Amino acid sequence: MNSYDSDRILESVSKTHKKVNNPEDADVIVFNTCHIREKAAEKIYSEVGKIAELKEQNQGLKLVVAGCVAQAEGKAMRMRQPKIDLVIGPQMYHDFSLMLKENKYIENTMLDFNNEDKFAKLGNKRTSANLSSFLTIQEGCNKFCSFCVVPYTRGAEFSRSVSDLIEETKELAEKGCREIILLGQNVNAYHGLDERGKETSLAELILEIEKIEEIERISYTTSHPRDMSEDLIELHGYSKKLNPYLHLPVQSGSDKILKNMNRKYTAKEYVKIIERIRKFCPNIALSSDFIIGYPGETEEDFKRTVDLIKEVNFAQAYSFKYSSRPGTKAARFKDIIEVEVANRRLYEVQDLLNSQQKNYNNKFLNTFQEVLFKGRAKLQGQVRGTTKWMQTINFKEKKPFYNKAKVKIIKTMANSLLGEMV
Ligand code: 5AD
Ligand code: SF4
Repeated sequence: MNSYDSDRILESVSKTHKKVNNPEDADVIVFNTCHIREKAAEKIYSEVGKIAELKEQNQGLKLVVAGCVAQAEGKAMRMRQPKIDLVIGPQMYHDFSLMLKENKYIENTMLDFNNEDKFAKLGNKRTSANLSSFLTIQEGCNKFCSFCVVPYTRGAEFSRSVSDLIEETKELAEKGCREIILLGQNVNAYHGLDERGKETSLAELILEIEKIEEIERISYTTSHPRDMSEDLIELHGYSKKLNPYLHLPVQSGSDKILKNMNRKYTAKEYVKIIERIRKFCPNIALSSDFIIGYPGETEEDFKRTVDLIKEVNFAQAYSFKYSSRPGTKAARFKDIIEVEVANRRLYEVQDLLNSQQKNYNNKFLNTFQEVLFKGRAKLQGQVRGTTKWMQTINFKEKKPFYNKAKVKIIKTMANSLLGEMV
């Protein structure tokens, strides 16, 4: 979502500013920050510290911190790093251009949750698009999982209207987008209004987006198991454009831990949802998030997580060591897990997930896949793309420009595939 937000921030000042490639050439530098775990939040101070030195050479340089760290820490950021000129929370981006125009930099924390519709002010016009573009359809969260800062940094759940989203998708399609990735902290809780004022589900929205001819692929992230409604599950069976991919965070396999996380489902219920989805879309690539070393996690609880992973067999997944976040309920929990224990469990889970990912990718060896071009790969002469299952494929460039390629998979790794363009 920060990637989408950064594009919108840039577009909102496109009349007066343009993107440059090096910080040395910039008049304004915006850090768009993440507060979800402590590591990400702390990193920002060292990054700002390094860039702040540029102010010695360029007195006019303005340093802006946007995103959820800005929202959570507010003015305190300027006390810790006085070289920061402006701290702006995620609900205020629509005022960013005004702020730059009026040169209002000092003490502009702009942290209020503004009830005015940010998206209405940002508008649906887009100046550019990627072949694969993000689109925020929903923001904020009312779920209040005990470990999570999102309800405090992004605010209450808000769904954009269907007509706004169709308009923005058409804009993106016109500018070259072929894959649209629908975003929301709780994306399947989407319930935006249609033109007649009727609430629309995520499945219904996807069916509307499908009608836009240029759009060939659709994905959505991140979902909550509680909101995995029957119409969305069934859509995976008959949709012509929905990618066979689902990121559905489970967090833990222990019912005790899930209860303490306030996730409001059991491990069994999660597995049932997975079974339903596989019934409609047998080859779906399943992804998840895990928090390891949550307060009170015993060896038995951890074993349940391992068992769940073995039972589901994921195509890929993310796992994180629990990180205490200020203001959340879990930050007051006493039964903290020792770092060594949490690390050992994390590595064990990561080993298991890695081997599942490798096994999953192995099935693609020697097959031919349609790959959507995403950009240059790390290795020179190679480009990068994704399959419908959201795997990354690197392959040698044969033509100077194309959107899609047919690629034969010649090698598989846990995190990517190596291909040969046909
Ligand atoms: N500690 C560790 N991981 C967290 N996540 C969210 N909050 C925390 C936290 N306090 C993880 C969850 C979520 C993902 C986006 O980040 O797994 O699904
Ligand atoms: Fe955070 Fe997701 Fe829980 Fe909302 S549903 S509180 S965003 S982990």
